[in-house]
Amino acid sequence: MKPAEELRKQPCYIVAIETSCDETSVAVVEDGTKVRSNIVSSQIETHRKFGGVVPEVASRKHVETITWIIEEALREARVSPAELSAVAVTHGPGLVGSLLVGMVAAKALATALELPLIGVHHIAGHIYANRLVGELEYPLVALVVSGGHTEIVHVQEEGRFRILGLTRDDAVGEAFDKVARALQLPYPGGPHIDRLAHEAKESITLPRAWLEPGSYDFSFSGLKSAVLAVLNQAKMKGEALDPAHVARGFQESVIDVLVEKAVRAVRETGARQLLLAGGVAANRGLRTELAGRCAEEGIPLVIPPFEYCTDNAAMIGAAAYLKYTRGQFSSFDMKAEPLLSLEEWSV
Ligand SMILES: Nc1ncnc2c1ncn2[C@@H]1O[C@H](COP(=O)(O)OP(=O)(O)OP(=O)(O)O)[C@@H](O)[C@H]1O
Ligand SMILES: [Mg+2]
Repeated sequence: MKPAEELRKQPCYIVAIETSCDETSVAVVEDGTKVRSNIVSSQIETHRKFGGVVPEVASRKHVETITWIIEEALREARVSPAELSAVAVTHGPGLVGSLLVGMVAAKALATALELPLIGVHHIAGHIYANRLVGELEYPLVALVVSGGHTEIVHVQEEGRFRILGLTRDDAVGEAFDKVARALQLPYPGGPHIDRLAHEAKESITLPRAWLEPGSYDFSFSGLKSAVLAVLNQAKMKGEALDPAHVARGFQESVIDVLVEKAVRAVRETGARQLLLAGGVAANRGLRTELAGRCAEEGIPLVIPPFEYCTDNAAMIGAAAYLKYTRGQFSSFDMKAEPLLSLEEWSV
């Protein structure tokens, strides 16, 4: 293993690979903060006709594209293989078949170039996408809102994660997609709900799942059922219900709970920053509401640019740097772990 001084020597170029779901992405990140390249190939068009990601199809698509995306990321970064410092790869959580494609590619590349291998937790990547924006101040709280996760994470110091609350059923992005489907909107539905909610002049009132007093957990399945019940009742009575009013009511309910719990977590832990992470961070209503509340409360809020909110390999390179500088490399026996724990991945 390299000595600590050598690991802190700059520049450090990490080539990072992300294939945990339906985006094939490879990036080169310099010193954990500067994105030299970040190539993302989305499979969304392929999966749209099925109304969701089909795991076997996703793995096959990753196999077809990964090699040329690695080549393109290295070419665009203008970094030669000899200059690379490590190979990072998402090893969980995610779809096992998709994860495996990235891992096999990463192990092959690391073996061929005699580089250390760094396994990265996908959600640590989403959180450390914020490191690509600027310096982070600890302790901090991250609100993770994505297609598969909804979590409030306390980061006491660099790379040390503690989950304060998480969803007990659907992830927030999943709830957006299911409600969109009920409103006969295309997949993925989140952006369509967001647009309709923005256009709506009125909203229907829907419940908020606060759960037990003091809980940081979330639950969105009751809200989804409430939307379905409202739609069914209107259909049975032959009443016309404006989908935009439903979209706005649903979005308002989700945002109220997310913002309230995130702000309370910042207050109760004495955090110095609130980070937003994951694909639902693109939601206009959420960004506006969170920015307004944080301004009122004097909480510094960090939101990454959209390209670093959805799945991308640059965020994996940023998180990998935490392990790189500590010499915490992974074994070549590393397995794909669909249910990998964030807390255990801490540095
Ligand atoms: N403007 C928006 N408003 C609400 N939801 C949105 C918006 N844009 C995207 N989404 C939702 O974000 C989700 C995708 O986010 P992301 O790419 O982070 O998920 P993922 O990577 O599949 O999940 P995970 O990171 O948990 O494995 C989808 O459910 C999509 O509907
Ligand atoms: Mg993701």
